[in-house]
Amino acid sequence: MDIPRDVFNEEDSNTSDNPHFQSVLNARLSRRGALRTSIGALAGAMLGGAAVTAAPAAFAQTATAAAAKALGFKVVDKHRLDLVVVPEGYEASVIYALGDPLMAGVPAYKNDGTDNDFDKRGGDHHDGMHWYGLTSDGKPSRTATTRGLLAINHEATTDQRLSSHFIHADGGKLSLPRPAAEAVKEMHIHGIAVVEVRKNGSKWEYVPNSTFNRRITPLTPAEISGPARGSAMMVTKYSPDGTRTRGTINNCGSGLTPWGSYISGEENWFGYFHRAADDDAKRGDKTAVALRRYGRAQGAASRHGWESAGADDQFARWNNGKLGTSANGSDDYRNEMNAQGYMLEVDAYSPNAAPRKRTALGRFAHESAAFNVPVAGQPIAAYMGDDSRNEYIYKFVSDARWDPADANPADRLAVGSKYLDKGKLYVAKFNADGSGQWMELTIDNPTIKGFAGYAFADQADVLVNCRLAADALGATKMDRPEWGDVNPKNGEVYFTLTNNSNRTLNPTGGSALLPDSANPRVYTDMRGSTAQNGNPNGHLLRLREGTGGPAATSLTWDIYLFGAEAAADKARVNLSSLTDEQDFSSPDGLWFSPYSGICWIQTDDGAYVDRTNCMMLAALPGQVGDGRTVSLEYTTPAGPLKVDTRVGKAPTPDTLKRFLVGPLGAEITGITETPDGRAMFVNIQHPGENTPVADVRDPSRYESHWPSNVGYGAGQRPRSATIVITKKDGGVIGT
Ligand code: FEO
Ligand code: CA
Ligand code: CA
Repeated sequence: MDIPRDVFNEEDSNTSDNPHFQSVLNARLSRRGALRTSIGALAGAMLGGAAVTAAPAAFAQTATAAAAKALGFKVVDKHRLDLVVVPEGYEASVIYALGDPLMAGVPAYKNDGTDNDFDKRGGDHHDGMHWYGLTSDGKPSRTATTRGLLAINHEATTDQRLSSHFIHADGGKLSLPRPAAEAVKEMHIHGIAVVEVRKNGSKWEYVPNSTFNRRITPLTPAEISGPARGSAMMVTKYSPDGTRTRGTINNCGSGLTPWGSYISGEENWFGYFHRAADDDAKRGDKTAVALRRYGRAQGAASRHGWESAGADDQFARWNNGKLGTSANGSDDYRNEMNAQGYMLEVDAYSPNAAPRKRTALGRFAHESAAFNVPVAGQPIAAYMGDDSRNEYIYKFVSDARWDPADANPADRLAVGSKYLDKGKLYVAKFNADGSGQWMELTIDNPTIKGFAGYAFADQADVLVNCRLAADALGATKMDRPEWGDVNPKNGEVYFTLTNNSNRTLNPTGGSALLPDSANPRVYTDMRGSTAQNGNPNGHLLRLREGTGGPAATSLTWDIYLFGAEAAADKARVNLSSLTDEQDFSSPDGLWFSPYSGICWIQTDDGAYVDRTNCMMLAALPGQVGDGRTVSLEYTTPAGPLKVDTRVGKAPTPDTLKRFLVGPLGAEITGITETPDGRAMFVNIQHPGENTPVADVRDPSRYESHWPSNVGYGAGQRPRSATIVITKKDGGVIGT
């Protein structure tokens, strides 16, 4: 359990000056006193009053068919079993796992580390996912409920330096140079899958030989789209004109566009690249600054060492150093990292269409993209988080205005180009008084144009290096923004903030940060005898747009929920008063069912694992401002610090409860439903992740044996997998 989970999510390369760092300290240093935290004078006051804001007419048009008034299932208790547990009256079964054949002629998965052809099999570490319906004669359908495609992110494969690498018979050769065959297998296991699924009688199954099945891997040709297409920053040996790249990597959260395509977030892509220890001097230009800001200081080792596996170009591209003699990078891969880190748009229905990197949405550690409910004649907005410690929340607003005729187009990617290649990118600032701003990232802003930290050349440079532009504007550094989604009931936007070990009362430089109103907690949580400091359990922030709706530049916000153990201090830690039926840690996946209106919250936790495996909860949230103001009073070495924050109305047993707890070592992530809300698909990622490297050949030493322990597939090695959940009475999930 001491193996650091999610080590690549723990990246923190934001050491930028934090404009609100000193202002927070100055503004909130209050009277001297001993370490004390108390609920402030406004405790219990309703910020939003009793009246519920009516949903705008635009949202009423998409009113949910069976909007849940209360959660209708019996709570699932926390557990440390090697099983997926769902409520009484529900069934969960595995339908698609790592290694399952997706193309004709691919042999059954042996699951002993000798399998190959992963570009024709299910990938590893299932993550973001969406359902795309098919009619009985195989045509796209928004209403089909028994036949469809699942587009699924295959985020990663286990880092063999940390724990057992189950896809190799003996765990793989850990030292460099890596064997070519192992590197190819590992590359193929990443990316995205499109998998046909169908209901056969009462049983759901995937279709192994469907002509819709597809794998997109890090080697699949992809188009650079939007303002950075053809930029000098994109020039590589593979694409001297800077218009194309190969594939996608570390695909994490996802989204559904209003025109019915899949959009996939490239998250911890920088971890896959190698840079030599003397590369800064070889470059001798500002690109070294950008590489550091994006997690690749010179001398950085790559996650899997693929660059060491041979001279072939498919390996060479993972060395991000300046190796050639050209002036523009057309003879090496010094610019290769600039082609990763986007929202990648895929048409799930078109197996041969090249995916497109939407550079207008910025380059960072993307999770999901959550679209507003589109309104005719208004722009489209996409809300996005950058998941690293101290990173930001962003919003893209299209130049194009929504035309309802685009809801079911013949060419989804062409419509994607219409809405996603031209627009404005904003970054969020959250103020202590509950207000906030969306600050546009534009080269026309003198603060960005004249930023001392990095000399932006043009708008493409601002988008490719938007973290630096956001630094220049003093955006609010967040506790690792993960998934976001839009509440279909009222248009409010929810974000999970999974945790942040950098929050501290004694920041001494680097990436350490004081708490602020939007990230207000600093405390210690024990995992067994291990102290976890900062904000170990995470929280969920929600925001309401100001005038202008999706195009607004002002907002109001509060903290919908604070993750915590039920037993933790309700004045300092368990601020949402979670009970044993509701408590959770490290929220990550988040999705509103358009049918039931239920907000589903999934966890990727390493903090509460002494008591429970990762989980999924169902919620019926209220609205921004339905709770109270809380003042947290801290003592820092510089004096007292008072942090006012806004806490949403405490949940009740009817509005928040645990629905699922997964197997040992697994994260719960990725969720979608059939449009009738009666079949739910959920991903179980990396069961058994904490199995030590040396134990790969000894099944008795595996942390997990899921899903073979529930009868799925050969062998005993644990496998990431998609499950389908149904209600035994055929009802709507969660109601
Ligand atoms: Fe891939 Fe931020 O989780
Ligand atoms: Ca604990
Ligand atoms: Ca995630």
